[in-house]
Amino acid sequence: MALILGIESSCDETAAALVTSEREILAQRIASQDDAHRPYGGVVPEIAARAHAERLAPLIQATLADAGRSLDDVDAIAATAGPGLIGGVMVGLVTGKALAMAGNKPLIAVNHLEGHALSPRLADPALQFPYALLLVSGGHCQILRVEGVGQYRRLATTIDDALGEAFDKTAKILGLGYPGGPKVEKLAATGDAKAVRLPRPLLGSSEPHFSFAGLKSAVLRAKESGDHRDQDIAASFQEAAIDCVIDRLKHSLPELEGATALVVAGGVAANQAMRGALEQFAETNGMPFTAPPLQLCTDNAAMIAWAGAERHADGQSDPLDFTARPRWPLDPNAEPARGAGVKA
Ligand code: KG4
Ligand code: ZN
Repeated sequence: MALILGIESSCDETAAALVTSEREILAQRIASQDDAHRPYGGVVPEIAARAHAERLAPLIQATLADAGRSLDDVDAIAATAGPGLIGGVMVGLVTGKALAMAGNKPLIAVNHLEGHALSPRLADPALQFPYALLLVSGGHCQILRVEGVGQYRRLATTIDDALGEAFDKTAKILGLGYPGGPKVEKLAATGDAKAVRLPRPLLGSSEPHFSFAGLKSAVLRAKESGDHRDQDIAASFQEAAIDCVIDRLKHSLPELEGATALVVAGGVAANQAMRGALEQFAETNGMPFTAPPLQLCTDNAAMIAWAGAERHADGQSDPLDFTARPRWPLDPNAEPARGAGVKA
């Protein structure tokens, strides 16, 4: 059995976790920076990097103490090396390198997206490759075919905003504050999803990709019209977003042939309405559906430790001069999506 220390610092959560190759999370700590960023309505990279630099070392120390372990007991150090806000990524990666060097342990430089992509296997030992993955977070919105550790085929991505970004912008328009996703979901539960007519960008398109910029603009117009209750806008937005996701999954179905399951990961996977729609879609198409528990959906270090454990079991490690990467696509061979605001 191997014991992996995971470190996550790519956005606004400073996190550390100790996970075994037997899928046991011995300890994990997450220090959220929500309070520091709230006055600005979004994550400020410089503030995030400084907060990671202050908090990470004591957080790792506390995580080891929670599990009653020391650095000596750890078999490998897994640190997020991108993609993300580069200042924060560098804090985590350099900390990981220092621990690896001091403890003479292998370093595993983890792609944050791979952490999300493999997190369902941490929660569900029965989940076998290949599986269909809907990866929906603040920075990404992709459909992937996960063939194995390190083997990802990207079938669709967003040509403008990520889904979590659309939730966050809707929250901002409705004055709900930051972070927005859970607040939109809560408000939507009290609203009428049929009350506001909103567009479903790219619905039925022959291209496989997502687009949410037009939906966000429509939310803004609905709010500014003054004709609608906020809860109805939230509910209508959420339904439109879910309709888009289901339509795009339908489009990718032929490419997902042979997948053992439909899996959702990333922060938006915490959304219960989304989970419900995905479960129904999977059932209709004869696929089992699985989603990690909520605390493994949003950013955390257990998923980074687990991705490290999977790669460690495969005999992989990375050199101490590994460079932090602001952009790092899971599928480097994916064709670029066309669109105004395409992101990696
Ligand atoms: O995976 P994550 O924690 O960080 C990134 O890697 O981006 O995802 C954060 C995103 C945010 O945009 C947040 O608003 C969204 O996930 N999110 C949700 C919910 N919980 C978090 N969106 C909709 N409903 C939720 N319950
Ligand atoms: Zn994430």
